[in-house]
Amino acid sequence: MEVIRTVATTLASCDEARSNGKSIGFVPTMGSFHDGHLSLIRRARSERDVAIVSIFVNPLQFGDPADLAAYPRNEERDLTIARELNVDVVFAPSAEEMYPQGRPDVAVDPGPLGERLEGASRPGHFRGVLTAVAKLFHAVGACRAYFGEKDAQQLALVRRMVADLSFPVDVVSSPTVREADGVAMSSRNARLTPDQREAAGCLFLALSEAAELANAGERDAAKLVAAMAREIGATPEARLDYAVVVDEATFTEVREIRTAARALVAALFGQTRLIDNLLLPTA
Ligand code: PAF
Repeated sequence: MEVIRTVATTLASCDEARSNGKSIGFVPTMGSFHDGHLSLIRRARSERDVAIVSIFVNPLQFGDPADLAAYPRNEERDLTIARELNVDVVFAPSAEEMYPQGRPDVAVDPGPLGERLEGASRPGHFRGVLTAVAKLFHAVGACRAYFGEKDAQQLALVRRMVADLSFPVDVVSSPTVREADGVAMSSRNARLTPDQREAAGCLFLALSEAAELANAGERDAAKLVAAMAREIGATPEARLDYAVVVDEATFTEVREIRTAARALVAALFGQTRLIDNLLLPTA
């Protein structure tokens, strides 16, 4: 496995693979691998000739410097796991390599969707995410890129960026990987106290309740939202940020569930913000 630190060498390596007729599977990550990452990496490995994983904790997508500083980092462990999964290349650039002039003046504008939901709670977050993803896509070139459905709004925005800015990238998504109690795998879970970790189960419970209502034929999104808010509100360790139902295609909030829709929740457990979502069944 090659560990590459520069954009130029990554591009050269990927260009060479493509010129030899090889297809490339790319998994962008911020490291600190959990089973959600592993499922994306395994999929890239099995579907493409060359598997490349990036590890870069992107400072642009953190509003709070303390949040950036507290983000878990464990490159040695991540590299060992990547080797075990037969990854061909890990691209692990420094912040100076990615942003040689510091915070870039020119960045990717995520548009109106970037201002809602996660974007409303974390101003500038999606501008930072898309700017990093655009740079990573330029470093890798034409590829199939793998993203988890847990970050559904990020996934929707990456798809839009690829379509709107014509990146030669085929974006595919994989289902959220969950712990036994339904909590979505996330690097942030490690920051929870035992009580908060137990309480975090309320997010999946809330989403499951919404899914049950939808499955029973409830079409009024407000009823699903109320049920989710009730479930999370009844958990003392959780502070609800939002519970919404959005149209799967447009990611706009819906009043009545007519086409494919997704329930999304976000809540704070102490200082740790967790998000989760579930595609609703169409009864
Ligand atoms: O989902 C993540 O880990 C990050 O937001 C990403 C896509 C690697 C961009 O920094």
